[in-house]
Amino acid sequence: MLSRRAALASLALGAATLSPGALASAEIDDLDTRPGLAALAAQRRILYGCAASTFELQNDRFVAVLTHEAKLIVPEYEMKRAALEPQPGRYAFAPGDALVRFAHERGLAIRGHTLVWHKANPPWLEQALSTPRKEQILTSFITDVVSRYRGQMHSWDVVNEALSPSDGRGDHLRQTLWLKALGSGYIDLAFHAARAADPHALLVYNDWGCEGAGPQHDRFRAATLDFLERAKTRGVPIGAYGMQGHLSAFGPPIDQRKLREFLSRVQSLGLRILITEHDVDDAGGISDLAVRDQAVADASRRFLDVVLENNATIGVLTWGLSDRFLDPPGFQAKLMGYSPRMLPLDDNFRRKPMWRGMAEAFSLRGH
Ligand code: XIL
Repeated sequence: MLSRRAALASLALGAATLSPGALASAEIDDLDTRPGLAALAAQRRILYGCAASTFELQNDRFVAVLTHEAKLIVPEYEMKRAALEPQPGRYAFAPGDALVRFAHERGLAIRGHTLVWHKANPPWLEQALSTPRKEQILTSFITDVVSRYRGQMHSWDVVNEALSPSDGRGDHLRQTLWLKALGSGYIDLAFHAARAADPHALLVYNDWGCEGAGPQHDRFRAATLDFLERAKTRGVPIGAYGMQGHLSAFGPPIDQRKLREFLSRVQSLGLRILITEHDVDDAGGISDLAVRDQAVADASRRFLDVVLENNATIGVLTWGLSDRFLDPPGFQAKLMGYSPRMLPLDDNFRRKPMWRGMAEAFSLRGH
């Protein structure tokens, strides 16, 4: 299995076009033709999608499965700043363009991820943020990238993971290179620049930390609500809260009541809700496959049932679709002798209990 780093390396070589060849009919016969997750979600007016990469889309069989299951994709790396702007002002748009074209040709929607983050930045960025051009370093990138895909994106993750209540600031902002260089105003600058460059794309504030049950998640939920409310009061054009939805099968289960309450408060701020990166880490637990698959499915179902109850929820994306392309197992998993199984389809693109749980959750919504 090729690691994600290797996948990135292949990207760097410039996978500019995605032209999957024709599938042999035996391979087509082999595919599951029963309705996919997107069709089931659509009956409830929800979008189902997943992260995809140019690397994965070189697999023809996977392309057939993906276009059957999903109606929305999000580039896993190709629109992170490290990928888009490896040298200052010199953009590498080819892989991102290829994904936009792919989505367009296959009738899928596509969303962008992510314009402002403290990770996945090019090495030159930090130094550039100590120059007088620092504000422009933030806004020109947003203007250039969002304008390039203007009118073609379902939504943009404008700012990703800007909160960290444990960093101890009254505004809950994470200590990042952006905060250091530009102060707390960077959030507003980013959203206004994105809105100016594409008047129609849904602008998303994306983060984690609100899914879990423990006290640190209580703090994260309170901080997130406070942050979103203040941003709305300032007139920042945030249209949706993106909840990443990374869960753990063998960690503490989510607290459905707290999650429900949190999401309804997000809704009452006038925001849509989008689950942007759902997956279920299956590290830990016992190595019996069926047991692990069921634990993953149960954790996902517990989460999605609450998420889908809320009328503000417009879609669910998983962070990938098939276990085949996941990072190789970590140290612990190696000891246990298994590969991660965090996604709806196994490494041969077969539907797992997580798939069935999601299908059921989508089907039951509104009943
Ligand atoms: C992750 C990718 O999936 C990894 O393969 C990569 O090494 C790091 O980035 N939150 C996010 C995503 O917003 O962009 C991250 O994606 C996962 C956590």
